[in-house]
Amino acid sequence: MSLLEIEDLMVTFTTADGDVHAVNGVSFNIDKGETLAIVGESGSGKSQTAFAAMGLLAKNGRASGVARFDGKDLLSMSQREFNKIRSKDMAMIFQDPMTSLNPYLRVSDQMAEVLMLHNGVSKKAAITEAVRMLDAVRIPDARARVTMYPHEFSGGMRQRIMIAMSLLCEPRLLIADEPTTALDVTVQAQIMQLLGDIRKDFGTAVILITHDLGVVAGFCDRTLVMYGGQVMEEGSTDDIFARPTHPYTSGLLKAVPRLDKDEGELVTISGEPPDMSNLPQGCPFSPRCPVQLDRCSTQRPALETFGDRRRACHLPINEVT
Ligand SMILES: Nc1ncnc2c1ncn2[C@@H]1O[C@H](COP(=O)(O)OP(=O)(O)OP(=O)(O)O)[C@@H](O)[C@H]1O
Ligand SMILES: [Mg+2]
Repeated sequence: MSLLEIEDLMVTFTTADGDVHAVNGVSFNIDKGETLAIVGESGSGKSQTAFAAMGLLAKNGRASGVARFDGKDLLSMSQREFNKIRSKDMAMIFQDPMTSLNPYLRVSDQMAEVLMLHNGVSKKAAITEAVRMLDAVRIPDARARVTMYPHEFSGGMRQRIMIAMSLLCEPRLLIADEPTTALDVTVQAQIMQLLGDIRKDFGTAVILITHDLGVVAGFCDRTLVMYGGQVMEEGSTDDIFARPTHPYTSGLLKAVPRLDKDEGELVTISGEPPDMSNLPQGCPFSPRCPVQLDRCSTQRPALETFGDRRRACHLPINEVT
């Protein structure tokens, strides 16, 4: 049994302008200690996939399909049950650390609160543990700084604090949603290194959500590519980089600067992402796809398995360049 199992997940939002189909039949698994990247352009449904699994969908959203953590059905869980497993079993970190940190509370108090709530330890023991965790995410002089307020730290340090906070109860799954997007390149690299260390030290499975394929290489075992709320392709990260089998993945890769290949100019995919309240009938990528078969615009390609790879495309697998 996988740690997290997602099967045919749908997320729909009701709005005054009609239904928005944010996630349309997504399936994937992640095992203990594994790292999975979910990549795709803005609006492709990456965050809503994670929010559905974490019970964090906005009020106008509803999820259907299957989402199980350690065999437990997540979609039928009450908020009370979610509160029990969030932090303790599955934790999530966001692009903006202030989403999770309370600006009015000292770091020591907010970290201790989490531990006292979930692990029932004394405040003194909780603060000792908080300092240990801040050390683990390499906050210099953690013992002295633990009593500071979030605004007294830099953006990169705040991101570390949020990571420390999410790890307090040693969750088995950490979902990191664009954790480095707001940071400069050097700090970005440090945070990715830190997430890598955490995975090794704590055996935490990590789902990294990003629109930047560049940060995925060297960090994630597997990569799942999403477009229009659907899975376009999934495989081992090395394989996907070496041999994409979906024109959308190919397009994304051509837009990533590579050190190991001299590919000349970077090319971005032309055209606009689909309107999620009015998706094309066939493949959602077909209006922007450089390859057009007759059925691409009329028939949605099924997600098929080829050895270690899954992909949803009508084009024969060896014809994608
Ligand atoms: N509460 C909501 N009501 C209506 N539509 C919503 C709501 N929340 C999200 N959406 C829509 O769901 C779609 C998928 O959004 P999602 O946040 O999953 O994108 P994403 O892939 O994470 O993009 P980004 O890289 O910009 O974070 C988008 O079209 C978005 O506008
Ligand atoms: Mg997002």
